[in-house]
Amino acid sequence: MKIVDSIAGLRAQVAAWRAGDGRAGDGRAGDGRVGNGRVGGDRVALVPTMGALHEGHVSLVEAARKHAGRVVVSIFVNPTQFAPHEDFDRYPRDLQADAAKLGGGTDLIFAPTVREMYPDGFATTVSVGGPSEGLETDFRPHFFAGVATVVAKLLVAAMPDVAVFGEKDWQQLQVIRRLVADLALPIEIVGAPIMREADGLAMSSRNAYLKPGERAVAGRMNVILREARDPGAAKQALLDAGFDSVDYVAVRDAITLGPASSGPKRILAAARIGGTRLIDNMEFAHA
Ligand code: PAF
Repeated sequence: MKIVDSIAGLRAQVAAWRAGDGRAGDGRAGDGRVGNGRVGGDRVALVPTMGALHEGHVSLVEAARKHAGRVVVSIFVNPTQFAPHEDFDRYPRDLQADAAKLGGGTDLIFAPTVREMYPDGFATTVSVGGPSEGLETDFRPHFFAGVATVVAKLLVAAMPDVAVFGEKDWQQLQVIRRLVADLALPIEIVGAPIMREADGLAMSSRNAYLKPGERAVAGRMNVILREARDPGAAKQALLDAGFDSVDYVAVRDAITLGPASSGPKRILAAARIGGTRLIDNMEFAHA
């Protein structure tokens, strides 16, 4: 598995794929499809991650593979999306384990250092309004500016035809769609369905923090959301199930994340158990 840590190295590889000459690649011929006006060579997909990869991430790579001949996975624990009191320092980092998890389905890992992404003097923040308002922002006010800034940089660094994000971070997905539309980036954003454990718990790198008793409680969140008719009752059900606190349970317009309207709706929740904060969401089909 080829791993590069510089934006220059990433660009050189993507350029070689696009040229279809295999220069910096593995000698495979380009897939000859035409992507976003970039003629010839392979289409390229980017799957941005923070590592600690699990089956959910593997499913993102599989989704990416359906859209492009070449798949880049970025692995970068982005400091700007963590508040000082959050889990940036303890977030699991194991590049070799991540590379093994990806196996042959990925053509390139882009694993930059913090200095590569945020060199001395870095002074730019990408701020998205609209779908970033409320929900996560009420509890993690720094979060979407950090995500939008790093995702914008990753997209501009790789300039993929397609980028794939998990629907587990539903609000994040809508923020990224807004960002890409507003900046007219010629990149298709694909949302991949949530992967769930046997009891329905949404797969997440943070599930690794759960102690055994907490893990059982965590598995109740998806059931409660699926059965919910009223966010207030669902919030109480989460507390009754054993969550220590609930940041929010809300039913919103699925795309704007504003008040629910006659269009598609989503129920979204964030709750804490022990030292772990879990989020989940699903379609809300009730009036
Ligand atoms: O969803 C994540 O893992 C992160 O927020 C992302 C999109 C990779 C940005 O750091």
